[in-house]
Amino acid sequence: MPKAIRFSRYGGPDVLEVVDVDRPTPGPGEVVVAVEAAAINPGEISIREGAFADMWPAHFPEGQGNDYAGVVHAVGPGVEAFRPGDQVMGFQPRAAQAEFVRTGADRLARKPTALGWPQAAVIPGVGATAYAEVEALGLSEADTVVVSAGAGGVGSIAVQLARLRGATVLATGSVSSFPFLESLGAIPIEYGDGLTERIRKAVSGSVTAYLDHFGRGNVVTALDLGVPPSRINTLADGTAVARYGVRTIGQAEADTPEVWEQLAAMAVAGNLVFPIDSIYPLTDVRSAYNKLAKRHTRGKIVLTMSRAVQPTLAVTPPP
Ligand SMILES: NC(=O)c1ccc[n+]([C@@H]2O[C@H](COP(=O)([O-])OP(=O)(O)OC[C@H]3O[C@@H](n4cnc5c(N)ncnc54)[C@H](OP(=O)(O)O)[C@@H]3O)[C@@H](O)[C@H]2O)c1
Repeated sequence: MPKAIRFSRYGGPDVLEVVDVDRPTPGPGEVVVAVEAAAINPGEISIREGAFADMWPAHFPEGQGNDYAGVVHAVGPGVEAFRPGDQVMGFQPRAAQAEFVRTGADRLARKPTALGWPQAAVIPGVGATAYAEVEALGLSEADTVVVSAGAGGVGSIAVQLARLRGATVLATGSVSSFPFLESLGAIPIEYGDGLTERIRKAVSGSVTAYLDHFGRGNVVTALDLGVPPSRINTLADGTAVARYGVRTIGQAEADTPEVWEQLAAMAVAGNLVFPIDSIYPLTDVRSAYNKLAKRHTRGKIVLTMSRAVQPTLAVTPPP
């Protein structure tokens, strides 16, 4: 029987189980995809631990994972746009970490065959998220933007998209991430005490925008640097959003197959890289989340279903 990730109570990675499930069949307008790769994301840790139990309760046994790529396995009545064998990527909340995913045909984009499975799997998640925040701030060559956690899943894409729009990009990371950040086109800045002063010293003019992916004081740093709240976006500090009126534009604002296909085309053209930190088999999902929880990944951690795919960390700097 096909395998899928499930958890039946809130808790740490140990509550995650690889279970046998029925193979889904597509209803009208639906497609069943044989998943090749699925991403893992920090937000899934919060959901699994029960942090959002009041707002978005789990329905046990709950599935896990959102963004994935795979091959169309079966199509339901009325589906014209896809047929079995097509390579696709999609976003199906709390369901993607499984050998088969059932989804609406309108929730799929075509995956270019030249793009790897792990890279395609992360596009509807961190790809769309970074796209949304960079577009929302309307970054341009007139901007000097700080990207916090610039080596992480969202940050590594946001750095490149901001560079492609011509902005000067400073990215925070640990010293060991500096070569990686430079390879993405950013000026690396060490996070931690004294961050505001280090940023001031590194820029000739003023900082005009700030994309925060880590919380913990980054919004206050941005305000101290004189960045207006309308040009600060945080994905990791809800308290700062309420207190300072900064923005929190994320994946939901670019959740369309058109955006995913645009990002995939940029990758195939060699203008954008989706760095993959490491790849785990679905059966080792607990180890994958243990690594993610340390919050020191470069790019993304991805689960694969069947075949061994080697990690790719090579990065071509954007032009
Ligand atoms: N709202 C949405 O639509 C949406 C979508 C996706 C993600 N998110 C949220 O966005 C945030 C970022 O997600 P992600 O997947 O990019 O995270 P991630 O990949 O886990 O971030 C890892 C990065 O964080 C850096 N880091 C570690 N400690 C740090 C510190 N003290 N200060 C600054 N950076 C530090 C690490 O750099 P070093 O390795 O160099 O230490 C590492 O590269 C999360 O809060 C996530 O839940 C929101």
